Amino acid sequence: MGKSESLRDREERVNSRQRFCAACRSEKIDRPPVWLMRQAGRYLPEYAQLRASHSFWEMVRTPSLAAEVTLQPIRRFGMDAAILFSDILIALAALGIKIKYEDGGPSISPRTRSVADLHALREVDPYQAFDYVGEAVERVRQELHPQTAVIGFAGAPFTLAAYLVAGGPSKDVYELKVLASREPRLYTDLAGRIAEVVAGLLRLQARAGVDALQIFDTWSLHLSPEDYAELALPYTARVIASLADLKVPIILYVRNAAGHLGAAAGSGCQVLSVDGSIRLTEARARLASNIALQGNFDPALLAAPAERIRARVREAIAALDGTGYIVNLGQGVMPETPLEGVAAFVNAVREEAT
Ligand code: CP3
Repeated sequence: MGKSESLRDREERVNSRQRFCAACRSEKIDRPPVWLMRQAGRYLPEYAQLRASHSFWEMVRTPSLAAEVTLQPIRRFGMDAAILFSDILIALAALGIKIKYEDGGPSISPRTRSVADLHALREVDPYQAFDYVGEAVERVRQELHPQTAVIGFAGAPFTLAAYLVAGGPSKDVYELKVLASREPRLYTDLAGRIAEVVAGLLRLQARAGVDALQIFDTWSLHLSPEDYAELALPYTARVIASLADLKVPIILYVRNAAGHLGAAAGSGCQVLSVDGSIRLTEARARLASNIALQGNFDPALLAAPAERIRARVREAIAALDGTGYIVNLGQGVMPETPLEGVAAFVNAVREEAT
């Protein structure tokens, strides 16, 4: 039997779901899996078409619509994993906060700025508050080919606290930093409350059948390493520790990964998803071999000619030797992304076999 024969055998045996799960566990596989952050969304004409007759919130809260949007990118491009269509801000809605999605980004009210505000937050029973999420995951699992992986997710406590304190996207997380330094106890209690809700939401998704859970710490972009260690890491680590019994791989997404790599790797996650602030080969060299790496192509690469996309993807896979690596972007897909670019990106990975 020649080498090509055994590779072909392997190609047939390994399906997308096994490939994705193996990569999360840093096990050797035929090629790295591929999916894209924010792959379900506004750059897809079929999403825009549904969105024309439903509000974003309605789509998130209606399991049949959420499942449909989750499957749209898989049908078109065949990524190895589907990420549930939802939003990180549903955790704040469960606490009784009003969220409006507007053109300038989400707006959140009331803001939490005092002990009284904290006490006014609602008690959350995850199975009641997030019943629509569990139902959406079950639907996705039924409708999706069993050989494709499903990813559930939530926001990290720090990132959600930043939204809650600022009342919306905050350019520099100034409001939260001020609150945390002037009233450290209030910040600790607030981040702790959010961590409980996030842990409940992630557990529910795991029970409903997802293959991995991603925690988005988007606003770590604006933290120094010292502030990351104090304001973000402890709460993310607490969430991850509380889920240990589930044995579901946890992917932690951090921005400003160059500054936070070592700390984030100590959170207990199995996969670290990094932004464009660090070279993948440098991240790999600094991480222990039992932590897999995800990332970190620039979303703008998807607008480049297909040949350039293909070359960049091949280069990264070769440099990392393929193991313990999940091909992805360093940030979410942009709304203006050309469909051909996404196809070239996904196909470049699918043509690989290491
Ligand atoms: O990845 C996926 O395809 C799954 C769905 C998903 C959405 N939001 C759908 C969405 C995921 C994983 C998220 C995560 C999310 N939401 C993050 C972390 C990831 C990141 O990009 O940094 C953050 C910070 C949010 C909060 C949020 N939700 C913002 C800032 C906005 C408005 C601007 C924007 O980026 O789209 C949303 C709305 C939102 N969430 C949309 C989608 C498809 C657009 C809604 C629309 O159709 O108008």
